[in-house]
Amino acid sequence: MSLSTSPAAKVKFRTAPLEMTEEQFRSLGHDLVDRIASFLGSIRGRAVTPAESADEVRAALDAARTLPEQGSEAGALLQNTADLLFDHSLLNGHPGFYGYISSSAAPIGTLAELLAAAVNANVGAWKLSPMATEIEVQTIRWLAQFIGYPADCGGLLVSGGNMANLTCFLAARAAKAGWDVRKQGVASGPPLVAYASTETHTWIQKAADLTGLGTESIRWIGVDKQQRMDLSALEAQYKRDLEEGHRPFLVVGSAGTVSTGAVDPLPDLAAFCQERKLWFHVDGAYGAFAAGIKEAPADLMGLTAADSVAVDPHKWLYAPLEAGCALVRDPAALRNAFSYHPPYYSFDVEATNYYDLGPQNSRGFRALKIWLALQQAGASAYREMIGEDVALARHLYELAAEHPELEAFTHNLSITTLRYVPSELRASVGSEQTEAYLNRLNQLLLTYIENSGEAFCSTALIEGKSALRFCIVNFRTSTGDIEAVPPLVARLGRQAHAELNRQ
Ligand SMILES: Cc1ncc(COP(=O)(O)O)c(C=O)c1O
Repeated sequence: MSLSTSPAAKVKFRTAPLEMTEEQFRSLGHDLVDRIASFLGSIRGRAVTPAESADEVRAALDAARTLPEQGSEAGALLQNTADLLFDHSLLNGHPGFYGYISSSAAPIGTLAELLAAAVNANVGAWKLSPMATEIEVQTIRWLAQFIGYPADCGGLLVSGGNMANLTCFLAARAAKAGWDVRKQGVASGPPLVAYASTETHTWIQKAADLTGLGTESIRWIGVDKQQRMDLSALEAQYKRDLEEGHRPFLVVGSAGTVSTGAVDPLPDLAAFCQERKLWFHVDGAYGAFAAGIKEAPADLMGLTAADSVAVDPHKWLYAPLEAGCALVRDPAALRNAFSYHPPYYSFDVEATNYYDLGPQNSRGFRALKIWLALQQAGASAYREMIGEDVALARHLYELAAEHPELEAFTHNLSITTLRYVPSELRASVGSEQTEAYLNRLNQLLLTYIENSGEAFCSTALIEGKSALRFCIVNFRTSTGDIEAVPPLVARLGRQAHAELNRQ
């Protein structure tokens, strides 16, 4: 630390090693923004993934290096780090990225993250973040409106879909246990049980585990041919549970399952819950934002009847990671599930204090990137982008269905699943031997696709069949990119087939 004297005020200012002058910050910032702009401008020409081994990535990082005792010049650090990240990352903003459910990030979100970090608001309490809190409140209302959920609902931003679903799970547990479960714990009443389809994302296991219910409290309900929850199986399991002295409290419906994008019969599930006074939660982490578009299945609108909905702006609203959101019909339900008032926090109770509504205490300003992007595009352009993603997935399904070496499996929302089938094996599809071989072949093909750098997809297991899974939550993907997929899969499929037959 050095001290300098201001000639005017004769005041001694501290100059910490982390401080930057206004000029330094401006110059470093301009340089970094220039680099990011070039990176985004060149993204289409880059490989989707460098497909490096962990050893190669560690070598590029010089991973074994010890913590430096002496500092370094900030400009060189930022330059080298930008190169490290641009050259050794999987680029989910690439138009050929179709893996998992990771979206391309809106550039305004990148700038929002810079701005949010500059203000560094702690959105745990209104007093610590007056404008940021009000922006989050407005964002929550806009998100609810966008999916047709009551605008006066409660809600807050969290890190992603897992945390949003967990937050809602805790709200359901507090509201429906029938005793003071927060104080007395889950062992103080009959065993609580929750219902979800076998296609439900694994967040529910973590939720049952973390909330003390245990994963055996999850009643896994089977699905029909379209991968949607089987209502008669739900009804039968519910009856059995009552007879055995369990306490059903929650039904989870998926608004777009993680594997195939299937939408559960949400209106029927809502009616089932209403009749039995169960909490109805919808996991809309992937699909909820499609609720307002004309291409969406009608059942999706059933989410408007839910007690709570998890949505994920870092999926289909193209927000940079991280941004999930828990919406709860009764705003008091969040406070009832999370609020404590220690003597060292004396915040104004009239204002929104987010530490009171969720598991986090200190909180970052996640809302800004969503709030800005919603305004940059507007709701109608958002619906258009989501609709285009759905149309592209349908186009891929149709192309695969017509292709002599591909088998199209499913298309729901913006997810299409398919597999490569060598021409000579077409006739024996369905036989045990051919199916086992096709599973091996398509697993290997996934690696070939990754290594090509031209596209990136993930896998789904559909009735025991290993499928390539293409999920389009990517505003950079165009028709040409999608039309390049079937020939790429067929070409690499032939190579993988030849490789397996050489072994
Ligand atoms: C339906 C569904 N729910 C929950 C999640 C978990 O979301 P996150 O990875 O943001 O925690 C996912 C992730 O893909 C999902 O598809």
